[in-house]
Amino acid sequence: MSKLLAIVLAAGHGTRMKSSLPKVLHAACGRPLLYYPVRAALSAGASRVVVVANPATKDLISDELGKHIPPENFEIAIQDVPQGTGDAARAGVSKLALGDQDRILILSGDVPLLTAEDLIPLVAELDDENVQLSFMAFHAEDPTGYGRVLRNESGKPVEIREHRDLETEAQRKIKEVNAGVYAARFAALSLTLQNLNSNNAQGEFYLTDIVASIALRSEVRVVRASPEVLAGVNDRAQLSEVEGVLFARKRAKMGECGVTIVGSPLIDDTVEIAPDARIEEGVRLRGKCVIGARTLVDVGSVVTNTSVGDDVVIKPYCVLTDSTVGSRVELGPFAHLRPSSVLEDECHIGNFVETKNSVIRKGAKANHLTYLGDAEVGEKSNIGAGTIVCNYDGFSKRRTVIGKGVFIGSDTQLVAPVTVGDRAYVATNTTVTKDVPEGALAIGRSRQVNKEGYGDALRERLAETARLRAKK
Ligand code: UD1
Ligand code: CA
Repeated sequence: MSKLLAIVLAAGHGTRMKSSLPKVLHAACGRPLLYYPVRAALSAGASRVVVVANPATKDLISDELGKHIPPENFEIAIQDVPQGTGDAARAGVSKLALGDQDRILILSGDVPLLTAEDLIPLVAELDDENVQLSFMAFHAEDPTGYGRVLRNESGKPVEIREHRDLETEAQRKIKEVNAGVYAARFAALSLTLQNLNSNNAQGEFYLTDIVASIALRSEVRVVRASPEVLAGVNDRAQLSEVEGVLFARKRAKMGECGVTIVGSPLIDDTVEIAPDARIEEGVRLRGKCVIGARTLVDVGSVVTNTSVGDDVVIKPYCVLTDSTVGSRVELGPFAHLRPSSVLEDECHIGNFVETKNSVIRKGAKANHLTYLGDAEVGEKSNIGAGTIVCNYDGFSKRRTVIGKGVFIGSDTQLVAPVTVGDRAYVATNTTVTKDVPEGALAIGRSRQVNKEGYGDALRERLAETARLRAKK
């Protein structure tokens, strides 16, 4: 069996993005653009992918791609000076030790909508022994800027001529254009790449010149694809268009996996969702999220790098970041889990509750208007409305530990570091500055005084003052 390897060209500068980030590292649907062609090549059967980068971007490309593709599946080749696509392919080939019959796929790093299903038929053209090269083409209503496919009298493709090198009006009218996606046998490719020249309008080594050279000796095949699938990213507008397509594909894929999608939530490709979960309109799921079975993520919630268990209800407009949520939890509306929040099973975190770097143990509840930072709340404890953990004195952060089965009355402040023992009861409006022992009652507020009749008298006096003022 012959091997299949792939080269992905990504050494160009991508100046139209007007960005300090290399074009192929711009994110779409939660992954760098470059991920998609590399993934497509691997899924189409390539055992390894060589990414051609330039000296300035190679380290960043290697690091960022390595977060999405196992490092053993790709390596970086360096094109020292950008002298054209043919020169870039040469840099890629120099990394490969292959047999003559082995096959190579060549793709561009900025064409993210192409999938393995599109590449497999292209490679399959090489099953015919007479075919040394196949490439993808599409019909462009406006072919300006693209390389045109030139065919001979019998209709066989014999050359790709770059836009700036076209000679006749008839050639300029050709709407069959080169997509920049190739499959070739190693022997033919490496030979022709060695013999490229730069006698053309751009003074570059054109990868497209391999077509004319291989067509002289054997057959070259064209595989037609839809222009949508071959859409390239050159500027921000195209990036956002392509990302829209990737989001739509992700929604469709989730639907096939048994997830209910309502409207058009934006779900990164990196997100995993279990069957019977329901994701509502306006939800944004970003980064490495896992959403459990039968969990509801209701309208407008934003979940980033967070894993959520089964049967959880996330009510509208919650924000969850870098956190872990167990099963059967109820959250929100308007709850805010900041980084390193851990909610164990069956917790309730209600409206306008904020947690940060805190563990909320099984079955604990904080239903209204509460801040829990650098805290631990024990099993089945109840945190009353308006409770604030004072974890920061302007210089350092300190921990608050609340035991099991504790009742914290409304409007309590816990001044860290402080510990409240199991089963303790903290009365409403207490400022807890000392540890509370197990089973104790803590109460720290001034006594109430009632003055009989004073309310009525005060009301009369105020009314009289207002009447006099109105007369003036
Ligand atoms: C190329 C094709 C053209 C085709 C078009 C489709 C050539 C000569 N022309 O033109 O026939 O219609 O794609 O989009 O190939 N790159 C390098 N090093 C270089 C130059 C480019 O790595 O020195 C990389 C780029 O990063 C990019 C890819 O090669 O990923 C294609 O280069 P680009 O300049 O976009 O090619 P086009 O001029 O669009
Ligand atoms: Ca170019």
